Amino acid sequence: MEINPIGIIHSPFAAKETCPIQPLYASGAVGRVEVFDEFAAGLKDIEGFSHIYLLYQLDRAGKVELVRAPFLDDTPHGIYATRHPCRPNGIGMSIVKLIKRENNILTIEGIDVLDQTPLIDIKPYVPKFDCFEAASEGWFAGKQWSSKPAGKE
Ligand SMILES: C[S@@+](CC[C@H](N)C(=O)[O-])C[C@H]1O[C@@H](n2cnc3c(N)ncnc32)[C@H](O)[C@@H]1O
Repeated sequence: MEINPIGIIHSPFAAKETCPIQPLYASGAVGRVEVFDEFAAGLKDIEGFSHIYLLYQLDRAGKVELVRAPFLDDTPHGIYATRHPCRPNGIGMSIVKLIKRENNILTIEGIDVLDQTPLIDIKPYVPKFDCFEAASEGWFAGKQWSSKPAGKE
């Protein structure tokens, strides 16, 4: 299997320590998604969506840990029950607000990735497909984030 980037995410975050852990905690964080010219035609009609999914490669993640304590808990959980970057295949996903499109550049808000993160795919967020109001949130229930604990990557 070979996956090649379709673009690059430009964000205000150069270091993990200052990078928000989810778009929910990144309001006001504006970034740019640069889609390579050869894929830009695929952005036709994207302007109609207020939010989009970005799928990307967590290219600076540490070693894979199948069970670990994530950012929001000191108790270890299986990696597939978390959003932590240290996962096999290192794929990250963020739903961000689409502010505008200028040719192959998307200006977005609510970005939680490091600058220069390789972009793998973009999909529109469609509430009638993607929003389940009665969904349960597992161990995340009641957890709130304020800042990254020192030493936790
Ligand atoms: C908890 S992950 C969540 C990412 C995404 N929203 C998800 O759920 O898949 C967000 C954290 O990943 C780390 N991170 C962001 N961009 C990264 C990259 N390119 N490589 C490695 N780690 C990254 C930062 O520490 C950031 O706070």
